[in-house]
Amino acid sequence: MAIQLKNSLDIEKMRIAGKLAAEVLDFIGPHVKPGVTTGELDALCHDYMMDVQGTIPAPLGYCPPGYRPYPKSICTSVNHQVCHGIPGDKVLKSGDVVNVDITVIKDGYHGDTSRMFYAGEPSIASRRLCDVTFECMWLGILEVKPGAHLGDIGQAIQIHAEKHGFAVVREFCGHGIGRKFHEDPQVLHYGKAGTLAELKAGMIFTVEPMINAGRREIRELADGWTIVTKDHSLSAQWEHTVLVTESGFEVLTVSPAMPAMPQSLEPRIAA
Ligand code: MF3
Ligand code: CO
Ligand code: CO
Repeated sequence: MAIQLKNSLDIEKMRIAGKLAAEVLDFIGPHVKPGVTTGELDALCHDYMMDVQGTIPAPLGYCPPGYRPYPKSICTSVNHQVCHGIPGDKVLKSGDVVNVDITVIKDGYHGDTSRMFYAGEPSIASRRLCDVTFECMWLGILEVKPGAHLGDIGQAIQIHAEKHGFAVVREFCGHGIGRKFHEDPQVLHYGKAGTLAELKAGMIFTVEPMINAGRREIRELADGWTIVTKDHSLSAQWEHTVLVTESGFEVLTVSPAMPAMPQSLEPRIAA
């Protein structure tokens, strides 16, 4: 299927949706601490989206083929949970690392972004995994420009993760996004430079690597959604929604409290 190129009206709407999604993460960050339940985080985000922003939580009732409807408004994936963790009664304890993944719909357009948060003090090992995964996401984003290929993104991410002894999850990937939550293309987080589709200005997709401290294999829980590492090793993920511009990329999921690109990668912007 062809990859849709967004027009300037689409892009303006996607900037708004992206910023709103990122602002939900700004809002929920301070609430991620020992003693809170993931269900409470979900309720706080749900009310913030609906009542403060006037956005719709895209996950709520989302039902891709082969799935049952997703029951909550956000995803909270704790420690060895890779992605799609369903918020519930789980009480966060000091040292837990949590991915909060937010997708909002505003005026029919989707913004999708996730960050890692620490409840209390993380171990050195978990901080390392979260930092390297953040670098992986940015190394992928830095490949984005017209004429580059999707495989360039995957290779940049895979090389960095594996250099640190970590593994890239293969079963889930980034995705085109717009009026639909998940559109073409699939954005793999591993692969070979120069392969797969060529990027063109006006494409919008997510880059959202899932990186495991141990082996790459995963398992789905009986709830039909939550993905965990088979070996119970820690997993991390970061996600931005990105526009291909004439000169490179524009991150759409920006907000005041968004962590900045690592300074160590700044020289690569000029390259
Ligand atoms: N936000 C996830 C992504 O980045 C998708 C979650 S689907 C849900 O693609 F139904 F679990 F919310
Ligand atoms: Co996504
Ligand atoms: Co997401």
